[in-house]
Amino acid sequence: MNAIQVGLLGLGTVGSGVVKIIREHQDKLQHLVGCPVELKKVLVREKDKQRLIDVDPALLTTDPYEVIRDQEVDVVIEVMGGIEQTKEYLLEALHGKKHVVTANKDLMALYGSELLGAATRNGCDLFYEASVAGGIPILRGLVDGLASDRITKMMGIVNGTTNFILTKMSKYGSPYSEVLKEAQDLGYAEADPTADVEGLDAARKMAILARLGFSMNVDLQDVQVKGISAISDEDINYSKRLGYTMKLIGIAHRQQNSIEVSVEPTLLPDHHPLAAVNDEYNAVYVYGEAVGETMFYGPGAGSLPTATAVVSDLVGVMKNMRLGVNGRSAVAPQYEKQMKRPEE
Ligand code: NDP
Ligand code: HSE
Repeated sequence: MNAIQVGLLGLGTVGSGVVKIIREHQDKLQHLVGCPVELKKVLVREKDKQRLIDVDPALLTTDPYEVIRDQEVDVVIEVMGGIEQTKEYLLEALHGKKHVVTANKDLMALYGSELLGAATRNGCDLFYEASVAGGIPILRGLVDGLASDRITKMMGIVNGTTNFILTKMSKYGSPYSEVLKEAQDLGYAEADPTADVEGLDAARKMAILARLGFSMNVDLQDVQVKGISAISDEDINYSKRLGYTMKLIGIAHRQQNSIEVSVEPTLLPDHHPLAAVNDEYNAVYVYGEAVGETMFYGPGAGSLPTATAVVSDLVGVMKNMRLGVNGRSAVAPQYEKQMKRPEE
């Protein structure tokens, strides 16, 4: 088999991690899929910018169509962020029979059904493991590991930035704005961190989890969201004195034929396992009728953890290419049922 040619959209925090893993784990990737993996083109906004990793300047382009319309590109990896325009790029890539891997939860929460439908119609894979909880293989856990069970509830910490902020405020009394800046410098926060601190990023991830876990289409408008921007040092200190830890908790709950999804700051007793999940780490409890309680834990943001999920998806695509099949996009039709509100 010839080398697999990858077109990379974005060379920031996650994109540079993807390049590093493809380079440094090339032997393992070749062993798994039987051929080399090569970077064909890389989209950036500014070609001359100082980067976290060196890439041959000849591969860089500022024209997205040089990546998505390149006849030799087999797989497009989208780690640029954005919603409307990015959706158009990915639809064009799928129509051009290119497989897609994305870390973009905003896009998957809003347009997941449409994109997965396009992938299915074009016989392509669309994988998005990195969109929820960074390096934790939670989507695979739900879709593959717990495939035989009926999931009743998922609950956890799915935003690294807010967990980092709450941890530093609680442990060291660091001021909110200072820790937010630190989270941005470490590459955990979104380009506009409002989505992190107002709970929208976590809401989008919970919507993705609920769709996969409950096979229902979740409208983001139905997710109750409250972020951490109004939490003060006093709130945190007072809760500590009472033996509680403040965490931004997402819950998706199935009840009969309806589901409820919410994200809000929550006081957990200090002995609760989620109270011990610190810094940018995430953890998600998944409750299944047969399995009982499982917990997925790991780094929820950052360059290499997120890139691990992205490149593992790439491996999944490449294995499917070798076998001549396509994979998880086949679950798309299951999303068509609409989430019902509890009162309906
Ligand atoms: P960055 O801002 O660090 O990187 C974005 C990259 O995309 C940059 O290289 C930028 O180019 C390029 N880019 C963005 N828009 C355009 C455009 N219109 N045209 C050309 N190039 C463009 O983002 P991250 O790497 O942090 O995040 C990328 C995606 O991964 C997002 O969807 C994010 O939500 C998701 N994600 C991020 C995680 C994290 O921990 N950071 C974890 C999980 C998911 P240039 O460098 O020239 O500006
Ligand atoms: N901004 C996100 C977070 C990145 O802090 O969790 C990972 O999705």
